[in-house]
Amino acid sequence: MSKNLGELSGRKGLRDNLFEELGMAAAPTGTVVKGDIEKLAEEFKIGTANVYGTATFYDFLRPENKGKKVYVCNGSSCLTAGTQDVVKQKLGSHFQQEEIGEMCCLGRCHENSSFNMNGINYSGDAINDMEAVIKDKKVIADKYHVGNYGTQILTGAFPGVEEWYAPMKSILGRTKEDLLNELKISGLRGRGGAGFPIAFKLESCKNTVGNQKYIVCNADEGDPGAYSDRYLLEQQPHLVLLGMMIAGYIIGADMGVLYIRAEYPEAIEITQKAIDEIRAKHFLGNSIFDTDFNFDFKIIRAQGAYICGEETALLSSIEGQRPEVRVRPPYPTQQGLFNKPTVVNNVETLACIPYIINNTGAKFASIGKGRSTGTKLVSLDSFFNKPGIYEVDMGTPLSYVFNTLGGGLKSPVKAMHIGGPLGGLVPANFIEELSVDYETFSQKGFLLGHASVVCIPEEYPIMNYIQHLFHFTAHESCGKCFPCRLGSTRGYELISKSLNSDYKIDRDLFNDLINTMEIGSLCALGGGLPLPIKNALTYFDKEMNVYFE
Ligand SMILES: Cc1cc2nc3c(=O)[nH]c(=O)nc-3n(C[C@H](O)[C@H](O)[C@H](O)COP(=O)(O)O)c2cc1C
Ligand code: SF4
Repeated sequence: MSKNLGELSGRKGLRDNLFEELGMAAAPTGTVVKGDIEKLAEEFKIGTANVYGTATFYDFLRPENKGKKVYVCNGSSCLTAGTQDVVKQKLGSHFQQEEIGEMCCLGRCHENSSFNMNGINYSGDAINDMEAVIKDKKVIADKYHVGNYGTQILTGAFPGVEEWYAPMKSILGRTKEDLLNELKISGLRGRGGAGFPIAFKLESCKNTVGNQKYIVCNADEGDPGAYSDRYLLEQQPHLVLLGMMIAGYIIGADMGVLYIRAEYPEAIEITQKAIDEIRAKHFLGNSIFDTDFNFDFKIIRAQGAYICGEETALLSSIEGQRPEVRVRPPYPTQQGLFNKPTVVNNVETLACIPYIINNTGAKFASIGKGRSTGTKLVSLDSFFNKPGIYEVDMGTPLSYVFNTLGGGLKSPVKAMHIGGPLGGLVPANFIEELSVDYETFSQKGFLLGHASVVCIPEEYPIMNYIQHLFHFTAHESCGKCFPCRLGSTRGYELISKSLNSDYKIDRDLFNDLINTMEIGSLCALGGGLPLPIKNALTYFDKEMNVYFE
């Protein structure tokens, strides 16, 4: 069924896109009204039920979003920093309760107190200056540290558009095989979480026959605590764009799609400006540098759904379908966007490509440790004295990143949630044993993921944090498979009951629940949640045991 819908939606494709139309239809009121659903269903020749299914899935399209004027960040970092209640209370002096919604997460984890108003993000002290924010529509730019240790691949000074795109002329003179080989030698692995080598995907897509192919940049950075993709899109957008162009050339794609989350309005605006700038200079379009290479970009603004970061859900989302995770095979490289061969990669992965092609794969492979080559961006939250984005050679001791680059902690923390909601819950005394690479993390039973760090202070109860993770998963579950759909809700109920009454959770039942989620879930949302829960049960057993019989 979804294959047919992909085909139907693909008739208008990116030019006249159903998902974008839904976003525009919701703009005036915050939700898509019945009449618009019927109109769009008719226009795209897709069932009304299908369009309704899509419209009611997303935080910013569904009926509950109607009339919302301001959104408070409910991400993990603002939660453990304890700023959400204060922000809500202060906004309550200016807005009706029903006008205040929630967003997850705004990527302002370096200073918290984050909220979104009129499509603009605010954080830090802005909440204390609401008169100016409301009356003068004052935009208060956020500031965070950007630093590095080792090679600067992603955080160096940008040389300017002309100089940056100049090598493209000679790159287009090289064979696709030659460029692919550099990427193979580089050992570049996906930075979005799974660490899958990019060259395999590009090769598979290159070898798939198709007259239309796509490069999709996954800029849905939904992991609360992560803002490194935001940094790249806002401060280094041309690294990502050139990376997509080179990847597009290798596989034979003439279109790059950037799926950017609505929670990052500045990233959308800045990236669009960067695209317009290079289009004006004829680095985009037809016959680029007088070759037969044609390429252009399209930004798709997401509408608030964590699962759209999962690559197959993301593709369904662009197609205007309900973003349910797809069963693989077929893989996107064989049957992706609108059923066409597609490569989906993370922002940071794509941003590494120009360095590799300009400096050789061997040079990139010489940086890092073992199979973790190159550098990694790490996002540090507001518990650090110098919160920010740090680029470090893979293999850099985590303690160096925290203590030297991040300047150490402002106050004691007992654990760090690293790599997003599905990453491991790392007790503070494990930090000395870890370095920024995939291998040490997995050897110790954790996950590097996208390398975001959310601190959990001494006084914050771990059980409440686990409740938050179950709640997050229950809210974000796409509903396709029952271990995640039901398991996340049951887990949330059990934990809430034990927190709010004398109820003790049956440990066997609970173990059964998380094992079923881990083994039986279709994707890493339901399958990954048990990792931090198991870490909590192991390392914070004294705190946790109180709630179990
Ligand atoms: C629940 C879930 C959420 C995800 N969110 C993101 C995300 O926000 N950004 C991202 O790049 N990858 C995310 N991924 C991973 C993607 O499915 C995919 O592996 C990635 O985009 C591939 O790019 P990479 O190889 O460059 O990392 C997510 C996966 C799952 C299961
Ligand atoms: S694990 Fe959850 S999010 Fe993933 S496919 Fe199953 S229901 Fe959907």
